This record gives sequence, structure tokens and C-alpha cells, in this order.
Amino acid sequence: MGSMSKSKTEGSSNPHKSWVFSDFSSTEHFDTDIGTEELAHLEMVSTIVHQLTRDLSLEEIQEAGFAPYFVDHTVGVWPQAASGMPFSSSTFQSTGDAIADLNEDMAAEQKARLTYDNILRLLDNPEVIDPIRFLREREIVHFQRFGEALRKVQDKLNEKNFYAINPEFDLNRSSGK
Ligand SMILES: [Fe+2]
Repeated sequence: MGSMSKSKTEGSSNPHKSWVFSDFSSTEHFDTDIGTEELAHLEMVSTIVHQLTRDLSLEEIQEAGFAPYFVDHTVGVWPQAASGMPFSSSTFQSTGDAIADLNEDMAAEQKARLTYDNILRLLDNPEVIDPIRFLREREIVHFQRFGEALRKVQDKLNEKNFYAINPEFDLNRSSGK
């Protein structure tokens, strides 16, 4: 750790604010921007679900396989996966390591994109297809933005760090912070 730390922090008045996050502030808070946008997407999807289900007859609920959901929630919007797994914070990941988390974020965006791909394969309603296509495109943009952030973080790593391991936490410990 010592040699790696020295090579990047020599001459810096604040080594803790060194190469990992010093450039992050210049990325225009991209992570909070994406987080805010994702909440807006949740609102869009919830509205679509509400509009598609609010006027269902009991027969349509039965035929669509919607009955188990209906028993628990009537036609109220309750966030769960298509498989029935309820939404919870356990579906989030945060390791506290920028390299691991950004890779996780990129994978999550790809998983969101493929979910929309699968939804589009099943859809025949143009009023739903258009917003879902829009949401799918945004996931691709998010993937690209997280990729840019990951490259920025990796560019700040020691060039001898071939495995893209983030030593930030250990560097802070060894320097007494
Ligand atoms: Fe996204």
C-alpha cells in the first residue's frame, strides 16, 4: 500500500482527497442525477400499471393471471418484480468500493435494459410501447454514464494496478484518517 500511496499522493496537501474521488465532483453529480431520473421512471411505470389495471373486470383479472396479485392488493400499485418478488432495499447493492459499485451499477443498467427488451417482446399496445422504448434508451445512457465514471476512477488508479482494485479505503487507514 505504501508505495502505491506515495506514487499518487506525493506533493498533495490532502492525500485523502487523492486520485479516486478528486475528479468525481467534475462529473456533474451524475450519480444523483441518475438516481433522480430512476425515481421518475418508477413513477412512469407505476402510472402505466395503474392505467392498465384500474378498469379490469374480474373476468379479465382471472384470464390475465392477475388474480393472486388482486387478492393481496386489489388494483393498487405495489412494487414487485414480474416474478412476484417484492421490491426492497435488498435489491440494491452498495459495497463502499467505487470500482465494485460502478461495475454493479453498469450490470444493473444492463439488467434494466433487458427487462424492457423482454417487456417490448410481449407488448402489442403502442401507447405502452413508446414509453417503454424511451425508458429502455435511458438505461443505455445510464450504462454509458456509469462506464464513463468507471473509466475516470480507473484512470486515477496507479498505472501498475492492472486488476483495477480500489485501494482507497486501505490508503485512508494507513494514512491515519
Ligand atoms: Fe437506469
